[in-house]
Amino acid sequence: MSSKFQRSVLVTGGTTGLGYQCALAIARECPTYQIIIASRTDNGAAETINKLLGHGNVHFMRLDLSSLSQVRSFATDWEAKNLPPLYSLVCNAALQFPGAAEYTDDGFEKTFAVSHVGHALLFSLLRPYLASTARVVITASGTHDPAQKTGMPSAFYHSAAELAHPLPKYTHGNGRQHYTNTKLANVLYMYALHRRFVKINEKTGNHWTVNATCPGLMPGTGLIRNASKIEQFLWYKIAPCLIPLMRVLISSNIHTPRQSGEALMRLAVSSDVEGISGAYFEGRKEIKSSQDSYNEAKQEDLWKWTIEAVARDEEKLSFSLQDLL
Ligand SMILES: NC(=O)c1ccc[n+]([C@@H]2O[C@H](COP(=O)([O-])OP(=O)(O)OC[C@H]3O[C@@H](n4cnc5c(N)ncnc54)[C@H](OP(=O)(O)O)[C@@H]3O)[C@@H](O)[C@H]2O)c1
Repeated sequence: MSSKFQRSVLVTGGTTGLGYQCALAIARECPTYQIIIASRTDNGAAETINKLLGHGNVHFMRLDLSSLSQVRSFATDWEAKNLPPLYSLVCNAALQFPGAAEYTDDGFEKTFAVSHVGHALLFSLLRPYLASTARVVITASGTHDPAQKTGMPSAFYHSAAELAHPLPKYTHGNGRQHYTNTKLANVLYMYALHRRFVKINEKTGNHWTVNATCPGLMPGTGLIRNASKIEQFLWYKIAPCLIPLMRVLISSNIHTPRQSGEALMRLAVSSDVEGISGAYFEGRKEIKSSQDSYNEAKQEDLWKWTIEAVARDEEKLSFSLQDLL
């Protein structure tokens, strides 16, 4: 599969919504790249893009980020495919669980498990395949920042352990609290990884970068598939038709998945952002992330907890990147 392609790109959650539009845009812009879209369900998205563009450069691989063992199986499949160097890892998949807390088989709160833990393990396992100029792009959300007053619960970070195993007072009601907290974790992790990339690049001559981004509100995607029927009706049927009006009345940060997918594509592969790292974007614009997200103690708490949670004993050195530092 790899021989005719120069680089590979992995978009998690590349089968629907933002990830699909991002993969489509990359496939169009970069016909010499092998684009892997990964999620739990093969809905024919790769074939659709290949038919649409005629480049034949998109391929589906099954990935379940909610399971540590499934992420490991994915990495084994990746190795077996002998893909070209991984140039861009787009950590995009996420879901909201609006009701009572749900847990994965590994025992972690599910929102945090899919959007943070699974991606962190994925990064660690795929690290040996990274190109020397590799980019990691993390889809976060403006909802991580209480100052943005998005209408979602104000994100907070006490400890990673508490995100993985929320206190009983946070487990019964509004599951969207887990979502905003997890999106804050996405940004904290990005800064922790960036700090390490700077040192690694100095030592190895690599040009690894990592950035996080808010794609803006994109009515119509599958993100709220677990919400109430009325919320789903408004989200799928009404809001997509009102985007221009909502942009005027509510916020300029409301987009179609296609618009946001193109902005995400830019971070993943475009030359105009080459070398930028440790930055938080809102669409195409670099902005400040939340005050809390700059807290280095919180970034390091998350980093250390994550290594302990996902690494086997013999993997701790490489997963913590100490072997390169
Ligand atoms: N929509 C918005 O307004 C909005 C706003 C800000 C940020 N975002 C962020 O944008 C990103 C994409 O969301 P979206 O709105 O495009 O939602 P979406 O249409 O539901 O896309 C989510 C993707 O993630 C995949 N996925 C879900 N659970 C998974 C798992 N356990 N393992 C692997 N893949 C999994 C889904 O496929 P399967 O279900 O088949 O696995 C799907 O491809 C998310 O990070 C979200 O937080 C969205």
